[in-house]
Amino acid sequence: MLDHDQVRDPDVLKHSMLDFRQMSTFVKQPLIFDHAEGVHCWDIDGKHYWDALSGIFVVAVGHHNPRVLKAMHDQLDKLTFAAPLHGTNAPAIECCELLASLAPGELNTVKLLSSGSEATETAMKLARQYWKQAGHPTKYKVISRYWGYHGATLGAMAATGTPKRRVPFEPLPEGFIHIPTVHCYRCPYQKTYPDCGIFCAEYLRQVIALEGPQTVSAVIVEPIGNTGGILVPPPEYLPRLRQICDEFDVLLILDEMITGMGRTGQMFGAQTFGVTPDILCLGKGLSSGYAPLAATIWNDRVNSAFWGPEEAGIEFGHGHTFAGNPLSATAGIASTREIIERDLPANARAMGALLQRKLLEMGQHYGIFGEVRGKGLLWGIELVRDSRTKEPFSDETAIGKRIGLLAQERGLIIRFDPQWIALAPPLIVTAEELEEMLAILDGCVADTLSSL
Ligand SMILES: Cc1ncc(COP(=O)(O)O)c(C=O)c1O
Repeated sequence: MLDHDQVRDPDVLKHSMLDFRQMSTFVKQPLIFDHAEGVHCWDIDGKHYWDALSGIFVVAVGHHNPRVLKAMHDQLDKLTFAAPLHGTNAPAIECCELLASLAPGELNTVKLLSSGSEATETAMKLARQYWKQAGHPTKYKVISRYWGYHGATLGAMAATGTPKRRVPFEPLPEGFIHIPTVHCYRCPYQKTYPDCGIFCAEYLRQVIALEGPQTVSAVIVEPIGNTGGILVPPPEYLPRLRQICDEFDVLLILDEMITGMGRTGQMFGAQTFGVTPDILCLGKGLSSGYAPLAATIWNDRVNSAFWGPEEAGIEFGHGHTFAGNPLSATAGIASTREIIERDLPANARAMGALLQRKLLEMGQHYGIFGEVRGKGLLWGIELVRDSRTKEPFSDETAIGKRIGLLAQERGLIIRFDPQWIALAPPLIVTAEELEEMLAILDGCVADTLSSL
């Protein structure tokens, strides 16, 4: 095994390539995690960090959860791989059954996968094959939103709507249409809620009509967008999208990678916003990160097209080697039961209310919190030079990045972007732990402002 000095040696690190990370900067001051417990992490130098982001919206039940670890240890001694092409395994079956029992409406069929990108790709391929088998072979286009993020693989990337993530890989697969996202603080149509009549949702109606409903297979959206700074729609938005999809016979896919598994105060964002999609995608908090696990769940209507008579040879022509991995499924079951039995969605609601109140107070004090927005334990802060006029900081100031990097230096991990920051601590977080995290954040905002 490499020792402490070897793992941080640039000559050793040069063989690694991290996600969305400039490696030349990273190797100079690498962050190398060593161990973690609850909402705490430590790096290889013993430095302590508050995990105010659940890794990256992942560790719902906190780090080093004894129940999840015990279940995984037990499973390790039994079976760690079962080829999904040949069959399945008891933990995978139980995980599917559990998710089907939790998912709203007729979302009853579950395909286990290993990453969020696989889950959204699966959803979009499922939608295309569904329409072919349901007698509407021309329905293939997918409508998604600018600012949406649906994953890093080519199809998921084609549905993604941020230029930074897309442009380096263009041309992307065709058949993906984007519409502006919902962003009441900076409305892309320069309208004001509620007088706008939710024009951003209504616009979908125009786009489907103009593309030709007979060509549109699905609409995919995140209930709350992460990119752009935790974009929370008004209550009528998702129900309106649902209604429009129904009018044109288009499937609605909810990408619940971030909002799923209790994060927004209900088990699924779908419940928080009162909509039932045709297909729901989960990942991240599904296994709390104890092993790679994601899932695509679909309703009985979609499923019915995949259960033809044996002689018809109908199957879902899609799969991944690690899908339904027994160890991952075990982690998913244990983490999900922990969420249910400890009623962590309720804690997300209670701690989320506290977090919101404290952030609003902090915002009033510093005057640069343009908007504090979120649900449950998912909160974003859009940072502005002047909260009355919404004047943003210049791109060069990159205020959010400065605050985020300073926070990391001081042992607090948050999500940051040049113009916003976000917090999403594990769903087990206590009021005392939140207070400690916020005290560090407060100091970082104060010191960043005085350094400008
Ligand atoms: C909303 C959403 N969808 C999909 C993905 C892709 O998930 P993964 O990185 O596990 O492939 C992410 C990842 O951040 C996400 O936030």
